[in-house]
Amino acid sequence: MKVHIIGGGNLGVSVALGIVRFSKNNQVTVTRRNTASILHLKELGVTVSTDNKQGIQEADIIILTIKPYQVDTVLAEILPVISNKVIASAVSGLSIENLQKKIGDSNSAIRIMPNIASQFGASATCIAFNEKHKEIAQNVVTLFQDLGTAPIIDEKLMDAATVLAASGTAFALRYIRASMQAGIEIGFDWQTALAISAQTVKGAAEMILEENIHPEQLIDRVTTPQGCTIAGLSEMETHGFSSSLVRGIKAALKKIKG
Ligand SMILES: NC(=O)c1ccc[n+]([C@@H]2O[C@H](COP(=O)([O-])OP(=O)(O)OC[C@H]3O[C@@H](n4cnc5c(N)ncnc54)[C@H](OP(=O)(O)O)[C@@H]3O)[C@@H](O)[C@H]2O)c1
Repeated sequence: MKVHIIGGGNLGVSVALGIVRFSKNNQVTVTRRNTASILHLKELGVTVSTDNKQGIQEADIIILTIKPYQVDTVLAEILPVISNKVIASAVSGLSIENLQKKIGDSNSAIRIMPNIASQFGASATCIAFNEKHKEIAQNVVTLFQDLGTAPIIDEKLMDAATVLAASGTAFALRYIRASMQAGIEIGFDWQTALAISAQTVKGAAEMILEENIHPEQLIDRVTTPQGCTIAGLSEMETHGFSSSLVRGIKAALKKIKG
């Protein structure tokens, strides 16, 4: 497949790298106005360009990873030269209905919400589309399955997906940072504390994904009666560990909904 990514910033580059590494036999083009910081992608076989239209007619999937206020400018540029294209938009807050209106009926609007772990093949990319685009959307689903997991969701959950999967990356990283900070307090240098904290989170996530069970069942396996783990957990919960996370996620959702 030929994948044309418009918006070679944090997310666009991460998706491009993910495709190169984990979804072989695809050709990727990434565009942005100032390409200096992404020229290194060329060495990996990615076409880097400032021209959004170059080669777009041959693209099987066009991915939009631009900011919401850049959408109209970009569409005004590309729409005169495309038809029958699948446009997968990662633009936060842009509904399928609005995007479809902007791109016209000759193209198909798909909504995607990847995260920057795409480049490690570890994104949780939520995807939504209208029923009539079910077949056409399959290529997009398959592509993002190569970059991690790609659950198909109801579009009304897309804001929630943004918070849980995209902002969620930052929330998980903040947990790792806090764990690292504690690690330094109890005797490790920061590099060792960070390595231990990150690997421990990775291990916990892998166990959950592998066994597909409720986290509390795994917590039970590491929690000895009267032991140090339950003492730590109880202290954290006394200070609002779970509730502050829930409140943070709900605040982020409230913000996104305006
Ligand atoms: N970052 C995430 O984790 C994440 C996750 C999910 C969804 N999203 C959504 O994805 C979108 C991009 O986010 P981001 O964090 O990747 O932003 P970003 O780093 O600012 O990337 C946006 C890119 O678009 C490029 N751009 C702007 N105007 C352009 C044009 N006319 N033609 C081609 N490229 C153009 C910019 O480069 P130039 O200025 O050089 O053109 C910039 O590199 C946003 O809508 C965001 O909500 C982001």
